[in-house]
Amino acid sequence: MKQASKQYIPFQPLQWPNRQWPNKTITKAPIWCSVDLRDGNQALVTPMQLEEKLLMFKTLVDIGFKEIEVGFPSASETEYEILRTLIEGYHIPDDVTIQVLVQARPELIKKTFEAVKGAKNVIVHFYNSTSTLQRKVVFKEDMPGIIKIAVEGAKLIRQLTEEAIASSGMNIRYEYSPESFTGTEIDFAIEICESVMETLGATNENPIILNLPSTVEMSTPNTYADQIEYFCTKMKNREAAIISIHPHNDRGTGVAAAELALLGGADRIEGTLFGNGERTGNLDIVTVALNMYTQGVDPELDFSNILAVKKIYEACTKMKVPERQPYAGELAFTAFSGSHQDAIRKGYEYMAESDTPYWEVPYLPINPADLSREYEPVIRINSQSGKGGAAFVLQHAVGYRLPKEMHPEFGNIVKAASDAFGDELKEEQIVDLFNREYVEFDGKYKLASHSFLEQRELDGTTHTRFEGKIDVCGDMKEVAGVGNGPIDSFFQALAGIGVEGYEFVNYHEHAISRGSDAKGICYIELKIPGNGHIFGVGIDSNINVAALLGILCAINRAEK
Ligand code: KIV
Ligand code: ZN
Repeated sequence: MKQASKQYIPFQPLQWPNRQWPNKTITKAPIWCSVDLRDGNQALVTPMQLEEKLLMFKTLVDIGFKEIEVGFPSASETEYEILRTLIEGYHIPDDVTIQVLVQARPELIKKTFEAVKGAKNVIVHFYNSTSTLQRKVVFKEDMPGIIKIAVEGAKLIRQLTEEAIASSGMNIRYEYSPESFTGTEIDFAIEICESVMETLGATNENPIILNLPSTVEMSTPNTYADQIEYFCTKMKNREAAIISIHPHNDRGTGVAAAELALLGGADRIEGTLFGNGERTGNLDIVTVALNMYTQGVDPELDFSNILAVKKIYEACTKMKVPERQPYAGELAFTAFSGSHQDAIRKGYEYMAESDTPYWEVPYLPINPADLSREYEPVIRINSQSGKGGAAFVLQHAVGYRLPKEMHPEFGNIVKAASDAFGDELKEEQIVDLFNREYVEFDGKYKLASHSFLEQRELDGTTHTRFEGKIDVCGDMKEVAGVGNGPIDSFFQALAGIGVEGYEFVNYHEHAISRGSDAKGICYIELKIPGNGHIFGVGIDSNINVAALLGILCAINRAEK
């Protein structure tokens, strides 16, 4: 790469030592305005067709947007026709305001007013570029010339608005954007906005929306917050304006810029679902809204079925939401790392055991279920996963609660299988692996029949006698043994056919089904002759039998 300092002019931040925003937090939802159908749509390789625009519009309404920029009707016949269909087809609910964009040019403004005829609530959004660079390179105009363009546009808009209100009773509001605001000298931005406000007659009762776009994101997000706070503090007649922000995402910090600009005093946000928009996109409204939600602030937008919204978005825009997109990405609730998986499992256990009203699961800033996302795929198992992850999946899938001591053994089996498979293992594969390795393990010894006899002596001691048949590689052997309980007597019986040297270490059991045919699962840990430990698993409606099956399973696995 070339030497940066010889090629790029660093952004000159505003001097604003009085800034108050760093000490603030977001405590309420802003006014949201979706620009999916305009800024988002103009950035698509194939712009949305009528049906897609209608579906997207309905989706935005269902999410709860009350202000929706529907297009740039003076820019193309298609945009004009779509707007007419929205209005004439009665697709716009009474509590929703449609917004239309237009440049501050007389012929375009007139066409825009024709396009919105008959709509109940409209925001006429007009703009002209104000930045130093645009003035120099594109418009070749000085500051007064740029103010004149805005004021002339405002005069015509006011006149046409008053006529439309008088003739049709439409409710029309104004929005003005000094386009490329972030690259505009801030006092000049204030001056042009104040001139527009005065021309339009903005009042506290009828405020104008002043939209201060980060048309191009030019610096760190704190600089945008400074610009917004400075603007709000220095402008005249602050109460007669709704301060709106419109951050683009050129540096990848559109969401951060929006959040800090809210702290800086903005009242309203323009953005798109999943951040679609020109170049690197607009601000992602889903992320900003759900970030608020995770801080206990009601965003007043409904993303409770985020995957349905994503599906419609992808179908309409032909864009793909990236896998790691916050909240909506396919992998947003997936942890591959073992320590993360362990912590998530403990978090879910804590949520089940405690009666905390709060969401307290490490590594998951939001409850996936709040977005109608399943927590089943929360944990996926690959070769990077730890010992607890596979146990968690098993517990969730089939209710087996492996003792902690068994996690490493099964974790290693899963890891080896994942390495061999070369990919992550799905839940069904993990259950299948467990069944093959333990429950259905086909080894040398099989329990063919059994009976227990419990005897209590006069001195209070008890003995258990085990009698049964064990199939040893197809050869049926009668066995018997006496011990101080079923497990001990079984070990004595096994010694009779030469199975010796195993030491019983531990035993865990729990029910896995309910009712009269309830079954229990038993996890047995044995010390192997020589050294090392091994586990076996048995399932039966009789828990004593489940234990014998578990012992044979462990021995079979040791002798395979
Ligand atoms: O990014 C921008 O500045 C715009 C304006 C038209 C508001 O989209
Ligand atoms: Zn934009």
